[in-house]
Amino acid sequence: MSDQFAIVIVAAVARNGVIGGGNKLLWRLSSDLKRFKALTWGKPLVMGRKTYNSIGRPLPGRETIVVTRDASFRPEGVHVARSLEAALDLAAMRAREMGAGEIIVAGGGEIYAQAMAHAARLDIAHVDLAPEGDSHFPAIDPEEWSVVSRERHEAGPDDEAAYEVCIYERRRKGTAGVEKGSEGA
Ligand SMILES: NC(=O)c1ccc[n+]([C@@H]2O[C@H](COP(=O)([O-])OP(=O)(O)OC[C@H]3O[C@@H](n4cnc5c(N)ncnc54)[C@H](OP(=O)(O)O)[C@@H]3O)[C@@H](O)[C@H]2O)c1
Repeated sequence: MSDQFAIVIVAAVARNGVIGGGNKLLWRLSSDLKRFKALTWGKPLVMGRKTYNSIGRPLPGRETIVVTRDASFRPEGVHVARSLEAALDLAAMRAREMGAGEIIVAGGGEIYAQAMAHAARLDIAHVDLAPEGDSHFPAIDPEEWSVVSRERHEAGPDDEAAYEVCIYERRRKGTAGVEKGSEGA
């Protein structure tokens, strides 16, 4: 996808599809947070306002673009966009300036559901837990997505559970991404 920035969805998803509850993560997975940091470093991150509030600050070494309909939402150190499409356009501009090859969509549930249609790749840590929660990852349709790599991680000393990282790529290429030449909001 040489003329586009690939949009990559990164998430940790329990066996029952849950990704969070009460606007929090429901597990401690220190090794996956380290993996998230390495994967996203130097790249623009698009996230929903609730996920941003849950983190409470811009993540260092990355540029955070928060999607919200709230015109008064202007925290320091982040970009704000009024729609997912505007956020992806802005992320493409920032990626160009940062020299990043891709754009990360970092959640939560509402944003994942809308971003699936735009994504070229899904990087999912499938967590060996099934907690009750109120935020979910959308279904991954095997007709749309194929698993290109699969890696089992046993629980480390600061992990509550084992997990398996699966990388999915879209089967039908050419529809996902943001044009490198497009000017955004
Ligand atoms: N396990 C994981 O990998 C992972 C990753 C990230 C987050 N999470 C979890 O996910 C949960 C949060 O997810 P969520 O679904 O509740 O919220 P979310 O997707 O983080 O944010 C939802 C908010 O985004 C804004 N928004 C959504 N669509 C929009 C659109 N089309 N245009 C403009 N604004 C839009 C709205 O903000 P306004 O209300 O301000 O208008 C909406 O309330 C938390 O529990 C968090 O811990 C888990």
